[in-house]
Amino acid sequence: MTFENLLTAIENGILTITINRPDKLNALNKKTVQEIGMAVKNGEADNNVKAIILTGAGQKSFVAGADITEFVGLTVEQGKQLAKAGQDVFRSIETCSKPVVAAVNGFALGGGCELSMACHLRIASENAKFGQPEVNLGLIAGYGGTQRLIQYIGKTKAIELHMTGDLINAEQALQLGLVNYVVPQEQLILKCTELLDKIKGKAPKAITGVINSVNAYFYSDGFDAEIEEFGKCFATDDFKEGTNAFIEKRKAEFAGR
Ligand code: COA
Repeated sequence: MTFENLLTAIENGILTITINRPDKLNALNKKTVQEIGMAVKNGEADNNVKAIILTGAGQKSFVAGADITEFVGLTVEQGKQLAKAGQDVFRSIETCSKPVVAAVNGFALGGGCELSMACHLRIASENAKFGQPEVNLGLIAGYGGTQRLIQYIGKTKAIELHMTGDLINAEQALQLGLVNYVVPQEQLILKCTELLDKIKGKAPKAITGVINSVNAYFYSDGFDAEIEEFGKCFATDDFKEGTNAFIEKRKAEFAGR
């Protein structure tokens, strides 16, 4: 499937989705948000895809925010619809059954910071900058940012960043717990691949169980979800393979069933 604003490639079981509007610093217009939703959905359904990397084209920006030019003239209702559509797509990333890593290759501002936070893991290049500068435009974050930033860095710093619109650099993001790793830009995709290769070697159904249980901490009863997900593992071939491999002192080969 081809997209207007995305490039996609599958290599070694990893689908890389590149937001491709570099002349606009990969700002998210409505079309791009829709396409990201479709690309992730396709990746989730494709048996050849075991994991997903989301990144931006160029060396300057992951995503510099929602496309501000599309905000002009919106009514209250249209503003709400825009936020709802964005939140739905970002939620579909967060609940994707396969691991999704944001390779943050520069500015991750507004909707870009929100998009990175919807991913399960974030690896930043040294030049990355994060922030929720919507207050400078008379706005607030609308794609889940007021909620997810708290989840990662706590209310104290999250409310400060939302209120001031201040940007933080990659090192600060690492210290605050917003990103998993910071690497030189030329190593960004390599680091994402290494991390995903490690995760890909584990039982896929168990990885989905981790995603569902961790998400449930924030959105429902996490302990109940963990009981459900733990129980479900016992019906999988991967569980049989994992335990047999341990007993037989060999490396497990998981089929993802
Ligand atoms: N929406 C629409 N267009 C955007 C954009 C956005 N969020 N962010 C950048 N662009 C466009 C610029 O308008 C410019 O387009 P042009 O060349 O047609 O004029 C192009 O991308 C390059 O951006 P520019 O501002 O010239 O780059 P810079 O290096 O001087 O500044 C930023 C980079 C990120 C600091 C600056 O672009 C910026 O502040 N962007 C908006 C960030 C923001 O508020 N995001 C939250 C939106 S809710």
